[in-house]
Amino acid sequence: MKWKAFAAVIAIMGLTASCQNRQSSHQPSIPSDKDVESQVEKILSRLTLEEKIGQMCELTIDAIQAMGQEGFQLDEEKLKLVFDTCKVGSILNVPLGMASTPEVWYNLIHTINLRSEEQCNGVPQIYGVDQIHGASYCWGATFFPQEINQAASFNRAIPYRVNEIAAYESRACLIPWVYSPVMDLGRNPAWPRMWESYGEDSYLNAEMAVQAVKGYQGDDPNHIDANHVAACLKHYMAYGVALSGKDRTPSYIPDRELKEKYFEPFKRCVEAGALSLMVNSGNNSGEPFHASHKFLTEWLKEGLNWDGMIVTDWADIENLYSRDHVAASKKEAIEMAINAGIDMSMDPYNVNFCRLLKESVDEGKVSMDRINDAVRRILRLKVRVGLFDKNTWDVSFAELQKQYPDYGSEKFDQEATRMAEETMVLLKNENEVLPLKPGAKILVTGPNANSFQAQNGGWSYNWQGTRADEACVAIGKYHTFYQALAEKLGAENVKLVEGITYQNVYSKSELENEPNIPAAVAAARGVDVILAFVGENSYAETPGNINDLTLSQNQQNLVKALAATGKPVVMVLNEGRPRIIREIEPLCQGVIDAFLPGNYGGDALANLLIGEANFSAKMPFTYPKYVNSFATYDYKPCENVATMDGAYNYDAVMDVQYPFGAGLSYTTYAYSNLKADKEEFLPGDEITFSVDVKNTGNVAGSEPVLLFISDMVATLTPDVKRLRGFEKVSLQPGESTTVSMTVKANDLAFVDNDGDWLLEEGDFRAAIGDQHITFRCNATKKVLR
Ligand code: BGC
Repeated sequence: MKWKAFAAVIAIMGLTASCQNRQSSHQPSIPSDKDVESQVEKILSRLTLEEKIGQMCELTIDAIQAMGQEGFQLDEEKLKLVFDTCKVGSILNVPLGMASTPEVWYNLIHTINLRSEEQCNGVPQIYGVDQIHGASYCWGATFFPQEINQAASFNRAIPYRVNEIAAYESRACLIPWVYSPVMDLGRNPAWPRMWESYGEDSYLNAEMAVQAVKGYQGDDPNHIDANHVAACLKHYMAYGVALSGKDRTPSYIPDRELKEKYFEPFKRCVEAGALSLMVNSGNNSGEPFHASHKFLTEWLKEGLNWDGMIVTDWADIENLYSRDHVAASKKEAIEMAINAGIDMSMDPYNVNFCRLLKESVDEGKVSMDRINDAVRRILRLKVRVGLFDKNTWDVSFAELQKQYPDYGSEKFDQEATRMAEETMVLLKNENEVLPLKPGAKILVTGPNANSFQAQNGGWSYNWQGTRADEACVAIGKYHTFYQALAEKLGAENVKLVEGITYQNVYSKSELENEPNIPAAVAAARGVDVILAFVGENSYAETPGNINDLTLSQNQQNLVKALAATGKPVVMVLNEGRPRIIREIEPLCQGVIDAFLPGNYGGDALANLLIGEANFSAKMPFTYPKYVNSFATYDYKPCENVATMDGAYNYDAVMDVQYPFGAGLSYTTYAYSNLKADKEEFLPGDEITFSVDVKNTGNVAGSEPVLLFISDMVATLTPDVKRLRGFEKVSLQPGESTTVSMTVKANDLAFVDNDGDWLLEEGDFRAAIGDQHITFRCNATKKVLR
């Protein structure tokens, strides 16, 4: 009996406090480097208290830019206040709210680095930018599929390379620090930042985010070279599970579950060397993350023995006071946050942080030790990212340009196209409606058919993504879905009649114009296939909040009217979160979720639609069918229960549109011979699973092979299954291969009510494809992970 074994262990161990998060139990997450540390100490020792506090303040560019000018200019009066008087240590955001050329970026950052170096005792400021799917605030840089697409590829090489290129193109603009990746689990599909995440699963988020961090930072976190940048993990933690589904509203998650699922991707990335982290703006059960000593200092800094730097999200110290009502004044909020473990305040407009924090230190409410610790972490980040090596930024623009010849290059374009092909999911293909037959006449319709804005989503050229069309037309080398199809199939074969268009109002980008569905229906005459591009327009953060996840009524009417023509309809979903399509899905012969594939999504989709490329992506989240019935694949058994015998029935039916991991291809795969190298194991062991995968169809393809493991009986009701491994394999027709995946036994543990990882004796089940086997753990033990 599991329970007995567990009780025995407790008896032997005596009183086991939940002690995993003590500094002593964890190797330093980033190995300390003597040169870095001595440089940090040297700089710290010469800074005054005012200069130290200035380092802890981050302001948005509005605080230094001249307003009401044509083009970007700095404001001398503001520069004096920010750098000369307040000694501010960091600036963020994009000039005039719009992607800038490398030259504008260079002039800005070079100028303010010199200014801050001169005024802040030799310490240059650190510039931070939201580079979300590539260097998305840099004009002409390469925009990749958003994170949700990258997750659907189940290919670790994609987040690595995306962010390696994003780092390179950021550095070409002198940007050393990026607010990415997002690793909040997207488990509430209404969440307006679902697409910024790697989907609903903890392991998938962790695996992809670790690669993103490595791509950004390179191999040595102590010495970030001139082709890499410092990553900023965000948003710590559980931001994607607000109960309301709305931005920055509360989650209600017990600590044990936070630790088991939500903390995990952050832990893994910190262990992989991530240099900084941004905090979730919301609160958990009323506890704002920004004021939580437990989450910031105990779990993260001490628990992981991490010497990195924690920055707030936008105005979130102010929010403790003005929004969350846990502090009675901004000063009290500052004390709370800094004492909890915040190192830098993204204030972002007001320098009063500096005055107020100085008062708190003078009054003994914040200790000098805490100030020194915070500033050490900030200086360490600056040293590590090379800001004290003037060769990395104090060069001429011409010299800088020479160092980055591949900025926005065709080479990167091609890589981005290949990646986009791997990130769109084929969900339905009745009667082999796809690939399109050669010479087929196509109607391209729907509000997403011809829009760079919709194709890219938010954080593209500007925050809400609303200026993507203006930018892409000016840059002149990208294709919308429609343009790419017209180019591939010949304009004479492809008609565009949208039927519905978006109004494109900033912050309300979902608003639609009066539809003209009859025009689209009329255009269907004479075509062989209808491609209906529906979904969402771009949004980011709070402006993306919605009250109803259902796809817009106009768009549903469009699909219904088109289906009534009797022509086959392929619905292409271009959306950041799963809008409900229950009523129209059965009317379509084909369904593709393209998510937000970026500037090369048009070319990539055209290649997929004609069969020049093959689909190989799978759903990184569970696509709901009903707005009241959200589910994740790792649900509890009682959420899906068969009809019960007897007078009363307590069945529970889980009815989703598409499950996690769903995804078709133009070929088929057969799985056989699933084996484990151990039928029985002990805590601390490693278990290797292998399975044969064969391409049984007629075309080449790539298949994500997903390993799910279930704990069959546990003290706390186990999830029905958990993703514990994945590998993507490419196979020619008829080819087969053996895929192996190794799992650490301790990773099969769950977090118990004491907050400890507990691996229990008993049966486990592994499943890959249609294969499954049972294996057994022979001991119960609290394990360290
Ligand atoms: C967002 C962050 C972002 C920050 C800086 C906030 O509103 O929540 O994700 O990094 O702004 O732009």
